[in-house]
Amino acid sequence: MPAIAAATTADALEAVRAKYLGRAHGWLRDLSAHLGRLDKADRASAGRAFNEVRLRVESAFAARQAALAPARVAGAPPDPTMPARHTWAGAVHPVSQILDEMIEIFRELGFTIALGPETESPWYNFGALNFPADHPAMDLHDTLYINDDVLLRTHTSPVQVRTLQAYPPPIRVLIPGNVHRRDPFDASHAPTFAQVEGLVVDEGITFADLKATLNHFARRFFGAIRTRFRPSYFPFTEPSAEMDVVCGVCHGSGCSVCKQSGWIEILGSGLVHPAVLESAGVDSVKYTGWAFGMGPARTALARYGIPDIRILYDSDVRFLGQFAR
Ligand code: DAH
Repeated sequence: MPAIAAATTADALEAVRAKYLGRAHGWLRDLSAHLGRLDKADRASAGRAFNEVRLRVESAFAARQAALAPARVAGAPPDPTMPARHTWAGAVHPVSQILDEMIEIFRELGFTIALGPETESPWYNFGALNFPADHPAMDLHDTLYINDDVLLRTHTSPVQVRTLQAYPPPIRVLIPGNVHRRDPFDASHAPTFAQVEGLVVDEGITFADLKATLNHFARRFFGAIRTRFRPSYFPFTEPSAEMDVVCGVCHGSGCSVCKQSGWIEILGSGLVHPAVLESAGVDSVKYTGWAFGMGPARTALARYGIPDIRILYDSDVRFLGQFAR
């Protein structure tokens, strides 16, 4: 069967098969049509010869087909003890997961998302937010200036002013974004980190709105947990308060994660200072508001009892993999 032996690819072999074994016009098929026309005496022996030829052609074809099939040791079963090939699956970073959860909780309360630029003017970053002219936060020490008029924003609060300029009240926005400071990379600081700002401005907004909303958030986010508000100071809020939640590691008895206090600070907040409303062109007699700012990486430390913020930025998959969903 030289034609079968000469076929060196599966396609070539298929062409040979069609020519000799094909059901429509194959050579064997045409030959079998002649058998019926033979004399009765010859028919039996011719039929036997025909069948013998057919079997030989078919087995030669099958042998060649096996030889051309992709190499696989005939009869060898698959080896289940072979080590599996490692597969990599990506996952959402824990800080992004927390950000998504925060956005979802506030979305249910009617907050939409607002974004702003990461490079800012000193006016948006400080001036419009009522920082006094000599405030230490404006020092080169903790601000990264690109030139005298442009800096990397040190917080997401400037987007409060941008939002108030762009839309009339009532306003309920959540402002996620990265911020930058000339801070050392240590257990509780990173020079670049995410913040989430919240801003509500409407008629008749009071501190009760702030407390109720932030307590609702803490319950949703941390589960049934105690919170407390401590008086604080920010130039852009009056009065101002910091919110703490009970330490998730020691549940209040004191440990190294909460520095023995039993509490973990999760955000700064306050009633929007009338000067901020006015610098954005909003009537501060008619409207009042409240705002907050928090860092999702710090919140991750509080929620999971992570002792060092740097692990979140190390990109070590042995750590990050534990948060993969
Ligand atoms: N911008 C502040 C910071 O980065 C955080 C903050 C505090 C934002 C109080 C607020 C607020 O909106 O009301 O430290």
